[in-house]
Amino acid sequence: MPADLSPIDKAKFAAARRAVDLIEDGMRVGMGTGSTAAWMVRCLGERVRQEGLRLQGVPTSTRTADLARQVGIDVVSLDEAKWLDITIDGADEFDRELNLIKGGGGALLQEKIVATASDQMVVITDASKEVNHLGAFPLPVEVIPFGWQTSRALIEELLESMDVLGRQTTLRLNGSQPYVTDEGNYIVDLHLNRIGNARQIALVLNQIPGVVENGLFIDICDMVIIGGSDGKVEI
Ligand code: 5RP
Repeated sequence: MPADLSPIDKAKFAAARRAVDLIEDGMRVGMGTGSTAAWMVRCLGERVRQEGLRLQGVPTSTRTADLARQVGIDVVSLDEAKWLDITIDGADEFDRELNLIKGGGGALLQEKIVATASDQMVVITDASKEVNHLGAFPLPVEVIPFGWQTSRALIEELLESMDVLGRQTTLRLNGSQPYVTDEGNYIVDLHLNRIGNARQIALVLNQIPGVVENGLFIDICDMVIIGGSDGKVEI
């Protein structure tokens, strides 16, 4: 473990290091986005350099692609790899059924496509992300810029009829400008506080014109590795 890490980074590192042990020579690996996934990419790069591990890495953002190249991982597109053995990614929240909220880092669209195209999705996290009910973390919804205010109004109308506690929505900003995803879209964050029926909300949100994808990952994750600041992990 690198020296001088904060307790939270120690936990993220421990989970990432354990997840990288799942990677075998020749695998096609989906690489998530965020600070926890960045530890995984660094650990994977170390195995590539030290053990000569051969793999194809499919990144879920330009940030992850840049880091993966820096640490010596062979980066390919999802279309080149076609299907992946495993994807390792972080999450903003997970529950006991291994359903997730993702997209705090703005990469939910590529993350969901890549995770869904994998035999196995492994989430790496610290214990603070575990919840009884999803929804305390704002749910990101990616919308196309054309008519985004109409899409947002339709989302708010939909929330009126859904099993949620909060209904406020905010456009994600980068300074004073809208945050723009790698796909050139905007993100509307839904402050729901508690999501009663995550499966239903995930489905109906994607029916709204202009909505590209939402950050609810239902029945996608197969395993959660929870790192502790003492370096131990729980699976
Ligand atoms: C990015 C994500 C990240 O996995 C999520 O936000 C967790 O990030 P971190 O590991 O930095 O806490 O979904 O879109």
